[in-house]
Amino acid sequence: MTARKKVILDVDTGVDDALAIMLAVTSGELDILGITTVSGNVSLDQATLNTCKILELLGVSGQIPVCRGADKPLVRDSVFEHRVHGSDGIGGALTGMTVTKQPEAERAEDFIIRQVLAQPGEVTLIMTAPLTNLARALHKCPELTEHAAEVIVMGGVVQGFGNITPTAEYNMYVDPEAAKLVLAAGFPRLTLVGLDVTRKALLSADDIARLQNPVIRDYVEKSTADYRKRYWERNGVQACALHDPLAVGVALNRSFVTVRDYYVDVETRSDLCDGQTVCDFQNRLGRPANAGVCLEVDAPAFLECFINSLNSNSFNSLNQ
Ligand code: BDR
Ligand code: CA
Repeated sequence: MTARKKVILDVDTGVDDALAIMLAVTSGELDILGITTVSGNVSLDQATLNTCKILELLGVSGQIPVCRGADKPLVRDSVFEHRVHGSDGIGGALTGMTVTKQPEAERAEDFIIRQVLAQPGEVTLIMTAPLTNLARALHKCPELTEHAAEVIVMGGVVQGFGNITPTAEYNMYVDPEAAKLVLAAGFPRLTLVGLDVTRKALLSADDIARLQNPVIRDYVEKSTADYRKRYWERNGVQACALHDPLAVGVALNRSFVTVRDYYVDVETRSDLCDGQTVCDFQNRLGRPANAGVCLEVDAPAFLECFINSLNSNSFNSLNQ
């Protein structure tokens, strides 16, 4: 048996962050060292509560530590996404749930630094939120770049339009200073899973109907109901995009995506374009590549992985 890949998830849970956590847990292929939370779609407190709720729903809350991180972007004000994710961030799907799990005392950036340094070259960071926590970790420990196995970022868009402004993707827009720092830090392996591919990874009502575990099916159905409605109103598609789950998918199986190396930077000083990810396709700036950019995705293969993981036997026996 091959060793499971060691990962830390950094989330702002969020409808699709929750689905990303569910995929990571149910895949059985990842050793989830911990989950760090950050202000983004919802406040830090709400993102942390939602993360604990999802772990309890999955029956793994005793096995995965949760650490709280930044309660706002590095220098800007928070920009919550309640329009998309609902007032509680997970579409009201777990409103009545009582939670016993508590976050750890250790801060997110210290947890990331400690885990990466203790296991050099082994830990993959899967970032599905504004990059504030990783930027803070780099500020404390610049040598993190030498010891992380890989950083996988759900963020940005290089060949299409934005989803919060005409040019910017939400995670990049909320904390562009943090994103700029992370991209410039010098990680030898940093993969950008942007809207170019996540918009093609769709989950429909028919896909949800294929989920066998009633607890999970009910949760996914409820939590994504408004999210799918909004996606339909905005994009004319009867489904919702699995943005954050695809970042986990890339950690599970890189062949889901086609990746090319480019120099990428983030705009931080523009009225119109803050948070835009600028990809130097023709190397006009003459700078070395700093990111592997996902350009294509095998969406059906990824969707099968997503559904099969959530239907996996070991997980079902815990929750029927
Ligand atoms: C990203 O923005 C957030 O709203 C989602 O959770 C995802 O991480 C998509 O642009
Ligand atoms: Ca997210």
